[in-house]
Amino acid sequence: NLPQRVRLFEMAPRDGLQNEPGAMVPTETKIELIHRLANAGIRYIEAASFVSPKWVPQMGDAVEVMRGISREPGVVYSALTPNLQGFENALAAGVEEVAVFGAASDSFSQKNINCSIAESLKRFEPVLNRALDAGVRVRGYVSCVLGCPYEGDIAPQSVAQVARALHDMGCYEISLGDTIGVGTPLAAKRMIDAVGQQVPVDQLAAHFHDTYGMAIANLYAVMEEGVSVIDAATAGLGGCPYAKGASGNVATEDVLYLLEGLGIETGINLEAVLETGYWMTSQLGRKPGSKVALARGNC
Ligand code: HMG
Ligand code: MG
Repeated sequence: NLPQRVRLFEMAPRDGLQNEPGAMVPTETKIELIHRLANAGIRYIEAASFVSPKWVPQMGDAVEVMRGISREPGVVYSALTPNLQGFENALAAGVEEVAVFGAASDSFSQKNINCSIAESLKRFEPVLNRALDAGVRVRGYVSCVLGCPYEGDIAPQSVAQVARALHDMGCYEISLGDTIGVGTPLAAKRMIDAVGQQVPVDQLAAHFHDTYGMAIANLYAVMEEGVSVIDAATAGLGGCPYAKGASGNVATEDVLYLLEGLGIETGINLEAVLETGYWMTSQLGRKPGSKVALARGNC
């Protein structure tokens, strides 16, 4: 009972680049990346992050990125907004969808957004109220759903509680982040089963990082549980500034290869994404982190 169609949410411009060490990735490069992703048929792109530039310098040009992109009809260009200040900046820059991001671990919440889980939920409430008034859809993230860099194992019940709170607040979808990529398929299934008791499974997304090479197996496992929205980053770009050693999101190319093999539709052109991955990593002076790109050998 796999889904017939998967909605892919592309993370490379945000999760992919937020942790890029060294020089700032030029705004024009980010804009071109977003254009190339849209041209490849991707319909959901997390384009920027309205967080503190002191905390995450690479996202400091969020306004310029959001104002600089040519919007293709039917494509959603979203951004992270941790608080009301971020939301107002995002709204002024023309963002039509935003995301708040919480965690299932208090220690990670403190390191990442400088407050506890309970405080974060209080901060998100005015963002949700303001966004829903302004007709802006809000996605909710829960980090550390399969493990925390500071606390180790995380109980599925803790994930379910935070997911439920975000859903009750009005988030249209809850994206479940294996932030440090430590999950394995059975743990991923159990986590989805617990969260699915609190939030309808068709409103859940899988946001898996590939640190231990388990992301594809974990995605297969949660698709069997009914999850049909997948977050991924072209070329497997990224990592989290507050989770040392974490690698990027599962590569979009690898997810598309899996889905094509399973006969699951996405509407996305794998060859165009591969091309985009080569181009983007050449801009960064690296090779793509995607297995499919490696197999093709022309990078
Ligand atoms: P804080 O220091 O507690 O905030 O940071 P504050 O309200 O006390 O404000 C302090 C200063 O920050 C003030 O400036 C504010 O104006 C400024 P000052 O007066 O000192 O000059 N400030 C802001 N500036 C720009 N935009 C804003 C903003 N808010 C306050 N929105 C805050 C709290 C949340 C802002 C901070 O901790 C932060 O920016 N954290 C960033 C965390 C982050 O981006 N992490 C990576 C993304 S999450 C992730 O990757 C996980 C995910 O992929 C899922 C997964 O994999 O699990 C989503
Ligand atoms: Mg992430």
